[in-house]
Amino acid sequence: MIEMQSVIAGYGAGDVLQGVNLSVQEGAITCIVGPNGAGKSTVLRAISGLVRPRSGHISLAGEDISGRSPAQVIAAGIVQVPQQGGLFAELTIHENMLLGGYLIRRDRPRLRRRIAELEQVFPIIRERASEKAANLSGGQRRIVEFARALVLEPRVVLLDEPTLGLDPKASELVFDSTRMMQDLGATVLMVEQNVRFGLKLASHAVVMERGRVLLEDSAASLLQRPDMAALFFGSATTPEPDETAVAGEKKSP
Ligand SMILES: Nc1ncnc2c1ncn2[C@@H]1O[C@H](COP(=O)(O)OP(=O)(O)O)[C@@H](O)[C@H]1O
Ligand SMILES: [Mg+2]
Repeated sequence: MIEMQSVIAGYGAGDVLQGVNLSVQEGAITCIVGPNGAGKSTVLRAISGLVRPRSGHISLAGEDISGRSPAQVIAAGIVQVPQQGGLFAELTIHENMLLGGYLIRRDRPRLRRRIAELEQVFPIIRERASEKAANLSGGQRRIVEFARALVLEPRVVLLDEPTLGLDPKASELVFDSTRMMQDLGATVLMVEQNVRFGLKLASHAVVMERGRVLLEDSAASLLQRPDMAALFFGSATTPEPDETAVAGEKKSP
């Protein structure tokens, strides 16, 4: 569904992506893992048009989309859920959903039908429709962000660390919602800081380090590599899938 070939990209004068090759299978959940600073978010930004490749190619279902603007990439069918909260806190859930459908706002019946469909899958959209986004918990906001990303019926959804800052229970809900995205027909490319959780959710894995893809494999076989932690995550002491590790990044000092 998505192919990146020899993509070099970065910010200002420096290259972060040093020739990235990767392919994302249609209908799958693919998880990118790797240490901080490896370039995982930059890969998502290159696909979504927020960072323009200096060279190389990115294609969506065979069509070259490298160098397109973010709006053109969305129109082509790729929607990114940003790493940090993308909802308008002072707007209601329903208003946020309408904004997700901004590009199809002139096709009111389609927009209404699509939001009604999403209400079936994500009941919170209906139950909390007239409440401000600010009143939702972090996990609930995430789910609304997912639903909002689906309003345009994207072919591909990009998720950057969707469980960041969430407790284990909320993280489970977010993962369930990610599966629902897949069930609704979206191809999912995600970055997840909890490697073991991410690889259990995904079918395909991409390991990045220092701006390159080290390997692509099935998530199951990567999980089983005894050297996984030592090789790819800079430490042999990665916590066991102890559920407390999920929200690990946001510990108070
Ligand atoms: N907006 C930016 N401007 C300049 N450098 C950036 C920017 N965003 C990220 N970088 C740098 O790019 C590198 C890769 O970052 P990123 O793609 O965010 O990595 P990851 O998501 O794997 O942690 C890091 O060295 C980071 O400092
Ligand atoms: Mg990142």
